[in-house]
Amino acid sequence: MFMRTRLFCFSYFRRYPQYHQVFPAFKHLPVDELADNKKFQAHCQNIMSTLSNSIDALDDADLMDAILHSTGERHGRRGQGTQEFIDLKGVMIEVMKDTLKSKFSTEVEAAWNKTIDILFLKISEGMERTAS
Ligand code: HEM
Repeated sequence: MFMRTRLFCFSYFRRYPQYHQVFPAFKHLPVDELADNKKFQAHCQNIMSTLSNSIDALDDADLMDAILHSTGERHGRRGQGTQEFIDLKGVMIEVMKDTLKSKFSTEVEAAWNKTIDILFLKISEGMERTAS
């Protein structure tokens, strides 16, 4: 699971080098040298644990909202916006498609599309709160 998240991050930074540049701790390192960087590993792990915590809170919509809104607020304060997350979603779907091949059926893809849309919508709501 964790290795797969790193795969998302590598593919994301290769496709969108401008997003790699918002990480002061490892922006100077080429993507091929990121694997051993602890701050890089920390962000990959942060992504997965936050999404996992929010899905664990499925039976408590307010808690789920709070987890994702505060993630959005923290990212908004650092200057990240909705486009970064739309682009991340595209990369996540592509990596799952490439990795899971025929197991990533049309139905599975549709389910992930919906799930990520909802999670990222909540993150965007949080980011918008910091916009004004
Ligand atoms: C599902 C997507 C994401 C999740 C769940 C997530 C989660 C987190 C968490 C939990 C942290 C540490 C706590 C904090 O300061 O907020 C963090 C830090 C950070 N995130 Fe994200 N993140 C996501 C996507 C992104 C994206 C798309 C970008 C930028 C393109 C980004 C940029 C950053 C930066 C710059 C930091 C600070 C890193 C540091 O201080 O070393 N994140 N993220």
